[in-house]
Amino acid sequence: MLSGIQPTAGSFHLGNYLGAVRQWVALQETHDAFYMVVDLHAITVPQDPKELRANTRLAAAQLLAAGLDPDRCTLFVQSHVPEHAQLAWVMNCITGFGEASRMTQFKDKSAKQGADRASVGLFTYPILQVADILLYQAHEVPVGEDQRQHIELTRDLATRFNGRFGDTFTLPKPYILKETAKIYDLQDPAVKMSKSASTPKGLINLLDEPKATAKKVKSAVTDTDTVIRYDVAEKPGVSNLLTIYSTLTGTGIPELEEKYAGKGYGALKTDLADIMVDFVTPFRERTQQYLDDPETLDSIFAKGAEKARAVAAETLAQAYERVGF
Ligand code: ADP
Ligand code: NA
Repeated sequence: MLSGIQPTAGSFHLGNYLGAVRQWVALQETHDAFYMVVDLHAITVPQDPKELRANTRLAAAQLLAAGLDPDRCTLFVQSHVPEHAQLAWVMNCITGFGEASRMTQFKDKSAKQGADRASVGLFTYPILQVADILLYQAHEVPVGEDQRQHIELTRDLATRFNGRFGDTFTLPKPYILKETAKIYDLQDPAVKMSKSASTPKGLINLLDEPKATAKKVKSAVTDTDTVIRYDVAEKPGVSNLLTIYSTLTGTGIPELEEKYAGKGYGALKTDLADIMVDFVTPFRERTQQYLDDPETLDSIFAKGAEKARAVAAETLAQAYERVGF
């Protein structure tokens, strides 16, 4: 299994953690999992070099703090494994221009920058993603709905390559994350919690002061009723708090409804604030420890790249040989 995370994220927010990173941590136990910080993808839009380097380390530090274990998975930085760029070139050369033009993410992303200013790298980004996946002969790629089209492209190009040059690549399947909790803005529960769209008080950044986080939880928007019940349509704010509570503690929502029967929103929020503080405090400390110890992080990166290259180099050598190199 293979998955990537952008190094541009800064602090993870609660939605990233509960919706994605937490699953990665679980999947390392059941899968031979490759997780990479995708710095090659990041430069498809302009990046400040210093910030890019710092964000790459920050993303990795947070993944480790969240529980990724370099002995249970392969955690690496994409640019440390040159095979990604090398295979991407080959895949570029078997992709039709029209085929690449149909990728809807490019249309969305380039529209934001002005179509003329968007880089060719942004245009071919899905093809680099194809190479990322095929290099590891990944069977499963955990993705959100918005990435489905890219998995389809991966299957199409793998099929084309295998047909033209001989069986080389495994066809991957999308692994739609089960029971992924969707987390909403604490101030506007109609909006997904997100770095770009959330209100400052509705966004829980995991690296913020725990006290500030507790305050945000305590001032979360609920409703004028007092009953604690999971009902997304009528009680989106309360339901969001129950989702967060349930996902962080592993307690079922019906149990929580029972626990808080007859109690007000204040009790729920105070308890959830404590739970959140207990979660973010060690997360923050561990992240900081990795950032304060560059040698440890470098050696984790070196080990990860070595493990990744052991697989990627073999696949690339086969592909190159078949192409006629
Ligand atoms: P953002 O929306 O803040 O830009 P990203 O798009 O970078 O976050 O998302 C990174 C990962 O975190 C994705 O796998 C995405 O599904 C997950 N994620 C982001 N926001 C949420 C959320 N509010 N609830 C659940 N999962 C989320
Ligand atoms: Na594993």
